[in-house]
Amino acid sequence: TWTAGNVVAEQVERIRAQVGDARVICGLSGGVDSAVAAALVQRAVGDQLTCVFVDHGLLRAGEAEQVEDDFVAATGVQLKVVDARAQFLGALAGVTDPETKRKIIGREFIRTFEAAAREVVAEAGAHEEEVRFLVQGTLYPDVVESGGGEGAANIKSHHNVGGLPDDLQFELVEPLRTLFKDEVRAVGLELGLPDAIVWRQPFPGPGLGIRIIGEVTAERLDLLRAADAIARAELTAAGLDRQIWQCPVVLLGDVRSVGVQGDGRTYGHPVVLRPVSSDDAMTADWSRVPYDVLATISTRITNEVPEVNRVVLDVTSKPPGTIEWE
Ligand code: XMP
Repeated sequence: TWTAGNVVAEQVERIRAQVGDARVICGLSGGVDSAVAAALVQRAVGDQLTCVFVDHGLLRAGEAEQVEDDFVAATGVQLKVVDARAQFLGALAGVTDPETKRKIIGREFIRTFEAAAREVVAEAGAHEEEVRFLVQGTLYPDVVESGGGEGAANIKSHHNVGGLPDDLQFELVEPLRTLFKDEVRAVGLELGLPDAIVWRQPFPGPGLGIRIIGEVTAERLDLLRAADAIARAELTAAGLDRQIWQCPVVLLGDVRSVGVQGDGRTYGHPVVLRPVSSDDAMTADWSRVPYDVLATISTRITNEVPEVNRVVLDVTSKPPGTIEWE
């Protein structure tokens, strides 16, 4: 019978057999897959694992802390955090085209991760050990989609680690290769990971970088993070997290609209709420979130984020709209 406990026991055996006493590296994104994969490897080989977290500054409120504090507390993993916020902002300065943003974010991510991986290798070298293994949170549907059998290491560009340089040769450790998403969550819970990580809704690798229409700036990121945190808190409070696939909050950075607050005219930015229901993100419908919940979100955002003076709801299915706006 399938139990999360059996999966953990079995994978711990397999990982130990594969890795021996070599060193292992794993990139954490804040998402559930990389977190569960890392936690399994940690359970199997402990301090032989070093996790790398690239903080690109495009995560939502509290997500970096979830990795740096909560994940570490739950697993005891060795974590190397790279603060690359300024670097990413600099690289994105003046850029408005969505695909260009994606390319820049992907490129900077790979560059930063590579540099961190080299440091881990160098540090391990001092102990005359080798870093030969890279953990990937590849799930069964990813394996099927890429038509891959055993050993077909299809590393996705944005949200996973990205292509690694030829002179850093890693063998992949993929402990989630036989699992579906719900099974991964069960394993995560079995391993004692925090609910906020285990139940995290899908979030794009390029993060808030593709949820600001127009240029990505530090000020706009702060606005969007504040608005997004309110929307998420209210959807959670209303008990809607498991019904809604995800709810992007999008800042229309290049649009302003006139408003009035107190005695004064305002000229602020709109944010868009994009709650969707879906099974696999290939198609989606807009979620019928109760009006009262929408009203609370709107009131709170416009009260608490003064630069935002208008909240609008996206009522487009996919197709023709994509889930994200960029
Ligand atoms: P769209 O907007 O294409 O999104 O309907 C479908 C799903 O994919 C996520 N998404 C991305 N994930 N890198 C990612 O890792 C990306 O560049 C990216 N773009 C969209 C989106 O959040 C949704 O779950």
